[in-house]
Amino acid sequence: MPAFAPFTLTAQRLQLRSLSPADVPALFRMYSDPDAMRYWSSAPWDSMQQAEAYFAAAQAGYENGELLRMGVEVDGELAGIINLYSFHRQNRRCDIGYMLDRAFWGKGYMQEAMATLIDYAFRVLRLHRIEADIDPRNTASAKLLKSLHFVHEGHMRERWIINGEICDTDFFGLLRSDWLAAR
Ligand SMILES: CC(C)(COP(=O)(O)OP(=O)(O)OC[C@H]1O[C@@H](n2cnc3c(N)ncnc32)[C@H](O)[C@@H]1OP(=O)(O)O)[C@@H](O)C(=O)NCCC(=O)NCCS
Repeated sequence: MPAFAPFTLTAQRLQLRSLSPADVPALFRMYSDPDAMRYWSSAPWDSMQQAEAYFAAAQAGYENGELLRMGVEVDGELAGIINLYSFHRQNRRCDIGYMLDRAFWGKGYMQEAMATLIDYAFRVLRLHRIEADIDPRNTASAKLLKSLHFVHEGHMRERWIINGEICDTDFFGLLRSDWLAAR
C-alpha cells in the first residue's frame, strides 16, 4: 500500500482515527489485561516500553504503507484498535486484527468500528479480500466476524505456541463481493 496520511472515519457512536503518542497509556492498559489477551497471539504486556514500541510500529506502518493501525475512539476515550496488515498488493488482500478495552465489551462498538473500516478497505483501498485468524475458543471474536459476513473457511491445527500453550486456528475470509452484496 502507499503511505497512509492521518485520517478519521466517523460512525454513529464512534470515530476511527490514527494513533498519537498520547495513546500509549491506553494501549498499555488494553494489552496488559490478561482477560483481553487470553486468545491474543502473544502474552499480556508487562512494560510500558511494549506500548511505546506498538505506537512506533503504527507510525512506521502509516509511513511505509505496510500496516494500518487505527484507534477506535468512543466519547473521547481510546476504546480499541483495529489493524489491517500483511497487505498483498497483487492479490489485493490483507489480514485484520482487533482489540477492545474490556470496559467497552458487549455494546456493539467493535462491530460498528469494523464495519466502518472494512467498508473503507473495500471501497477506498480497493481491497478484494480480508482474512482473520482466530483462536477457536474465542467465541466473541467468531460471533463478531460472522456478524460482519466473514465466512469460516478452515481450521488449522496447532498453528500457534503462545506462552508454551499450543493453539489451533479458525480461519475466516471476507470477499469484497460478499460485503457489497450484504450492505
Ligand atoms: C473480540 C471482541 C472485540 C468482541 O467484543 P464484543 O464486545 O463482543 O463485540 P462488539 O463490540 O461487536 O459487541 C457485540 C456485543 O454487544 C452487544 N450489543 C449491545 N448493543 C449493541 C449494538 N447497539 N449493536 C450491536 N451489538 C450490540 C451484542 O449483542 C454483542 O453481545 P453478545 O455477544 O453478548 O450478544 C472482544 O472480546 C475483544 O477485544 N477481545 C480481546 C481481543 C481479542 O480476542 N481480539 C480478537 C483476536 S483475533
